[in-house]
Amino acid sequence: MLTAPRRPPVIAPSVLAADFARLGEEVAAIEKAGADWLHLDVMDGHFVPNITFGPPLIKSLRRLTALPFDVHLMIAPVDPLLDDFIDAGADHILIHPEAGPHLHRSLQSIRARGKKAGVVLNPATPVESVACVLDIVDAIMVMTVNPGFGGQSFLPSMLPKIATLRGMIDAGGRPIALEVDGGVSAGTVRPILEAGADTLVAGTAVFGSADYAAAIAALRGPSPPAGNE
Ligand code: DX5
Ligand code: ZN
Repeated sequence: MLTAPRRPPVIAPSVLAADFARLGEEVAAIEKAGADWLHLDVMDGHFVPNITFGPPLIKSLRRLTALPFDVHLMIAPVDPLLDDFIDAGADHILIHPEAGPHLHRSLQSIRARGKKAGVVLNPATPVESVACVLDIVDAIMVMTVNPGFGGQSFLPSMLPKIATLRGMIDAGGRPIALEVDGGVSAGTVRPILEAGADTLVAGTAVFGSADYAAAIAALRGPSPPAGNE
């Protein structure tokens, strides 16, 4: 059954849709506009058919903002670079199960450095891929597009997967963020939240908008009435 969200979702704008020539200004503007986290999409041209940026850029941005860095690694093999991204300033590291041979060990490595560890499920990746590591996961992110590009259309066929993961997380009783990434906009957000997501990644819907604060507010939806816990 679908449940109503209990509180406003965490909003993590993706800099993939920002103006890279003015990235420092863009990050300052998104922080001022009320973003909760900054989502950073790292692509290697191998695991996904696109290339973005690496640890040096993240290190440069780290000096400019206090926002938590939600670093989505679309690189393979991922293990040799985990420390570099943590040293650059990542707070959360999100990895795909397909990006290394030993997901459990990769998650352990991230947590051993005191960072939050997340697992990303591609549209074709089943929820079972994360079921055996729920005890060492801080975030699960459902891809609602195929990874590699911004501006793609949301895949509504992923909604049951979000709901299944909501049930698994609640049954386990540990705090695990449930993120959704891809095609998230004011027009698609409602069923995403009803399915149980608590964290929204949005590139085009925020950085592609003329008013970042209004775009973030539109994703958050109306504030719950005072005292409604
Ligand atoms: C895609 C990335 C997304 C991307 C989303 O591989 O993981 O974070 O920035 O962009 P939109 O919100 O435009 O779909
Ligand atoms: Zn992403």
